[in-house]
Amino acid sequence: MSAPVVTLVLAHPSAGSLSAALARAARAALASVGADVRVHDLYADGFDPRMPTCEVGTTELADELVARYVADVLATDAFVIVHPVWFFNVPAILKGWIDRVMREGIVYAHGPAGMAGLLRARSALLVNTANGGEELERGFGGDALVNLWERVILGTGGVTDFRRLRFGGVAASSNELRQAWLAEVDDAVRSLVVDVRNRLARGDG
Ligand SMILES: Cc1cc2nc3c(=O)[nH]c(=O)nc-3n(C[C@H](O)[C@H](O)[C@H](O)COP(=O)(O)O)c2cc1C
Repeated sequence: MSAPVVTLVLAHPSAGSLSAALARAARAALASVGADVRVHDLYADGFDPRMPTCEVGTTELADELVARYVADVLATDAFVIVHPVWFFNVPAILKGWIDRVMREGIVYAHGPAGMAGLLRARSALLVNTANGGEELERGFGGDALVNLWERVILGTGGVTDFRRLRFGGVAASSNELRQAWLAEVDDAVRSLVVDVRNRLARGDG
């Protein structure tokens, strides 16, 4: 069986951030289990989050980077998405990735029977860093990120197996705790790929 394709998305400007370290851990775990990893390192790639006029309401791909990202997303069996919580939401550059890549006609379509997912991926792991605890997020009316990723973006595309790791209290975290978080990501990525391989072997849609 061919290697499962996994798209790893990172939205953080700093290579020294915890998010970047977690993405590196995820990438290393993916490589060690033989996944075919497609990395979307949005800041490092120079991704432009501004949607050009020609992409609005179309499936046109205005630049080569977006064309590569779309090809990866359509080929992918699973997503690993790593980003900090910024104002209880995604960093702006990642909202641009959602707008320009996860578009109608690419990731989902409106058909006679309603909305249909166009992704082959069924699994995703979201990894978030934050300073506040989860209670704080819920206090602002529910977890905006789970709703956005699980239901609005990935669920619409056809992802049914949604997993999340959320590491809060980053500013005050010890080195030991950060090492433990890196190990958690390593474990979560490995079990994601095991489950994806099993699903592909069963031939489940
Ligand atoms: C623009 C901005 C907005 C932020 N908003 C939040 C927030 O809504 N909730 C929260 O817990 N932390 C918030 N933070 C703190 C970051 O989540 C925190 O610095 C980050 O997760 C630390 O991990 P990193 O090393 O991966 O950046 C914000 C930080 C920035 C720069």
